[in-house]
Amino acid sequence: MSDRVIVTIKDGIQKLTINRADKKNALTQEMYAVLANSLNTAEKDADIRVSVITGTADSFTSGNDLMDFLQNPSSDEEKPVIQFLHALANIRKPLIAAVNGLAVGIGTTMLLHCDLVYASEDATFSLPFVNLALVPEAASSMLLPKMLGHQRAAELLMLGDTFTPQKALEFGIINEIVVPEKLEETSMAAAAKLAAKAPEALRLTKSLMKGDTDLVLKQMQAEGEVFGTRLTSPEAREAMQAFMERRLPDFSKFS
Ligand code: COA
Repeated sequence: MSDRVIVTIKDGIQKLTINRADKKNALTQEMYAVLANSLNTAEKDADIRVSVITGTADSFTSGNDLMDFLQNPSSDEEKPVIQFLHALANIRKPLIAAVNGLAVGIGTTMLLHCDLVYASEDATFSLPFVNLALVPEAASSMLLPKMLGHQRAAELLMLGDTFTPQKALEFGIINEIVVPEKLEETSMAAAAKLAAKAPEALRLTKSLMKGDTDLVLKQMQAEGEVFGTRLTSPEAREAMQAFMERRLPDFSKFS
């Protein structure tokens, strides 16, 4: 198994640690596959009561690997990123995120599928899809307006600026901001509490709160279709190229 995602299981808690610090924990298809398989295993394995996802060093995750976007521009249902999104939507067991640093793109959208989210004071959040000439994913184009109202969701998804843990708390995307040295302890304590509860009651409670998962899956599919065409668009090529060349994108030539 890849050491770019470290998977441990102890006392009913499955911990998934994204571990590619030299690339700010950018996610490759191989890493998504480990994340998706792990969540699918958690769903089936009676010994796993709760999953916790976290990062390493200064990053939770800087989102999808941008080279991967360039080299592998499809949104095929079999693609590991899509499998991961489906696992997030389908998992009935509790999922906790411990956001230790940068949470870019899917680093923020996956939080919308978590049950409890703890963030370090050092965390930052951003949804820069439009800045990359892409569109939102993980059903965030539906879930964020539903949670926040259109204008606040548009602020995050259309301006695409980095936002603070204070704003994430105010918007209800996270539960609590903790000092960095308490993040692991706080999130693992919550996981231990959940691991001791009646598992079926928890699963049913989560299902009742989440409602119709098909709507989420349908939105993911609609987003995926547009996302796939955007990836090969000249606008997105310019945005990715600009990132690689460490310059600002120039969208002035597009109509
Ligand atoms: N995909 C691929 N590589 C990435 C990456 C990503 N999403 N995010 C960071 N990296 C790489 C950088 O290319 C750099 O690699 P190098 O050392 O080989 O040059 C390394 O990680 C460190 O990143 P750097 O940009 O130097 O760090 P920073 O602290 O100045 O900035 C970010 C961090 C996350 C703000 C910046 O890297 C960034 O904007 N990344 C892209 C995020 C993104 O758009 N994700 C997709 C969302 S849909």
